Amino acid sequence: MRRVVCPGSFDPVTFGHIDIIGRAAKQYDEVVAAVLNNVNKRGLFTVPEKLDMLRASTADLDNVRVSEFDGLLVDFCRANGIETIVRSLRSVSDFDYELQIAQMNFRLSGVETVFMTANPQYSFLSSSLVREIAQHGGDVSSLVTPYVQGRLRDKYEERAGA
Ligand code: PNS
Repeated sequence: MRRVVCPGSFDPVTFGHIDIIGRAAKQYDEVVAAVLNNVNKRGLFTVPEKLDMLRASTADLDNVRVSEFDGLLVDFCRANGIETIVRSLRSVSDFDYELQIAQMNFRLSGVETVFMTANPQYSFLSSSLVREIAQHGGDVSSLVTPYVQGRLRDKYEERAGA
């Protein structure tokens, strides 16, 4: 059984994430899409909201399950029998950062990192840009699923009303 993890903040999940998770699901037996539960950094969405959107976005992929982790990713890997981390590279600046993290994770635990090149259709896409566009009422329909679009709308309406 070749099980890998696609870790991330997923605040919120985008078509870029879904593309990578789907491609990983074709290459490996099982993919765990794991949301970082970061106590030091509050996102726009709560972890349960992120998990819900990830589940909805990957519901058609039989070998993908959704989970959360806190602390070190390598500890999550060890606890779940995962030997490979899958990360996406959109640009050279992603590579600079990701290489260091991948090498540190390998040093810490021997876990391998496999890089997938981002689909050029989504190489400009990030959750932070999606949040910014949605916050100002811009159109994110080509960047996230209709379900996530609705959750973004609800979130910013809720915030405006608060
Ligand atoms: O979607 P992101 O924000 O690019 O994901 C980053 C993530 C969650 C994969 C990364 O920050 C992470 O693995 N954090 C957990 C803490 C950890 O293990 N850090 C690496 C130590 S070298």
